[in-house]
Amino acid sequence: MAKIIAGVATSHIPAVGAALDLGKTEEAYWKPVFRGYEKAKSWFKEVQPDAIILIYNDHASAFSLEMIPTFAIGCADQFKPADEGWGARPVPIVNGYPELAWHISQSVILDEFDITIINKMDVDHGLTVPLSLMFGQPEAWPCKVIPIAVNVVQYPPPTGNRCYQFGHAIRRAVESFSEDKKIVIMGTGGMSHQLQGPRAGFINSEFDRNFLDKLTQDPESLSKISHLTYVTEAGSEGIELVMWLIMRGALNESVKEIHRHYHVPASNTAVGHIILENV
Ligand code: DHB
Ligand code: FE
Repeated sequence: MAKIIAGVATSHIPAVGAALDLGKTEEAYWKPVFRGYEKAKSWFKEVQPDAIILIYNDHASAFSLEMIPTFAIGCADQFKPADEGWGARPVPIVNGYPELAWHISQSVILDEFDITIINKMDVDHGLTVPLSLMFGQPEAWPCKVIPIAVNVVQYPPPTGNRCYQFGHAIRRAVESFSEDKKIVIMGTGGMSHQLQGPRAGFINSEFDRNFLDKLTQDPESLSKISHLTYVTEAGSEGIELVMWLIMRGALNESVKEIHRHYHVPASNTAVGHIILENV
């Protein structure tokens, strides 16, 4: 059967993608940000998963106010990097995994998580920046990717608890796929940040560090954080952290923390990154 062997979380700051694409990773501002991802690069080389299930959010690139799926899964063969207004990022096309994606769709829908099925979709910085952080600048991404998009842009986003439970359903789905495949699940976005209004630039490191601690040790408690708490404590875009709970919900109760990176600032955001292996 297929198995989720580990989960990885990371911020998806678009300026990080620009820094990489423009060759600025060695500059003083960016160096400490990228240094924290060296471990992920060597870890992925060692682990060599067959596929990544990548939980991310679209930022009005593929979707818009005309269409707002709460949860959506990409079942296509390929996903093109999106043009977010300044041309598509110069990164490889993302190869999907239609067989497993359709299997997950069927499994989670029959498990009462009514996910939207997407057969054509471009993917924005929410998905491509995490891949760049994990793999650098290869000619082709080293494994298949199943994008799962979550609405954290337009109120109301799903609750943290719903996301955590959805993670459990994804795990059941993967474990009922008959082929022996090694899967890594990624949760992206976060950590605390606010891009708008009088509190723009708001960062709460205490909230972030506690979130990282609990993600490993007590994810159930994180699943109870309300939308209002995310906004007040983690900033209006801190709500992206619910996507980390999908990743965590797909892992065992007991996990081993392999690596952690936390750095402020990068653009308007606290950079957070963690690798958790199932034990
Ligand atoms: C920034 C962070 C995000 O998550 C995003 O989607 C856009 C911008 C930022 O910090 O600049
Ligand atoms: Fe974002």
